Amino acid sequence: MRVVAIDGPAGAGKSTVARALAQRLGLEYLDTGAMYRAVTFAAVHRGIPLDDTTQIGQLSREVMLTVNERGVVVDGIDATEQIRSAEITGSVSAVAANSEVRAEMRARQRDWAEVRGGGVIEGRDIGSVVFPDAALKLYLTASPRVRAERRVAEVGGDVDDIERAIAARDNSDSSRADSPLREADGSIVLDTSGLSIEAVLSTIEGLLNNPE
Ligand code: DC
Repeated sequence: MRVVAIDGPAGAGKSTVARALAQRLGLEYLDTGAMYRAVTFAAVHRGIPLDDTTQIGQLSREVMLTVNERGVVVDGIDATEQIRSAEITGSVSAVAANSEVRAEMRARQRDWAEVRGGGVIEGRDIGSVVFPDAALKLYLTASPRVRAERRVAEVGGDVDDIERAIAARDNSDSSRADSPLREADGSIVLDTSGLSIEAVLSTIEGLLNNPE
């Protein structure tokens, strides 16, 4: 099984890099953040309070999720756009902190990779917890300001507000008890602040071709 794990905080360029890398390597790509967003969407849709950890855990085990290049389908509903809404973005950290949800998502992520013989998988705990034996573990980061500027270029908004929201989400993702966002042992840290996508991709390809 050949897994390339790409972790790091929001806005570090993980999705763009992971998608392009998967294409170049002829592997499939999995966005695990979209899975946590999809569970959050399902909870909101069913009216389950996000702080009801037992019900949310149960929901994560029964919900039908399809996450792929074409989009995200949750219990038969196309939620591709809604999972990126401000409501879901503001609520997802609470769901991602639920240990039952994490156990279920980890199992689904491992099954996904098993069936495909690997893939390029992006998230927060992929190299540290889900696939500690990945062929390559990358931790992409960038300054909060650069990450906020990238988000503004994509979706608009006020750069100071977005920088504050990014910092708040980083803080809750890094301080939760279960699988917090952190650099995995053996991961290679790439600060993408001043780098183009092309520069990041060629650095990664160099690492894959010439492992230490
Ligand atoms: O990458 P993203 O912004 O779509 O992630 C959404 C949320 O899910 C974010 O709060 C971090 C969390 N997440 C996680 O806890 N573990 C992962 N493997 C992926 C995302």
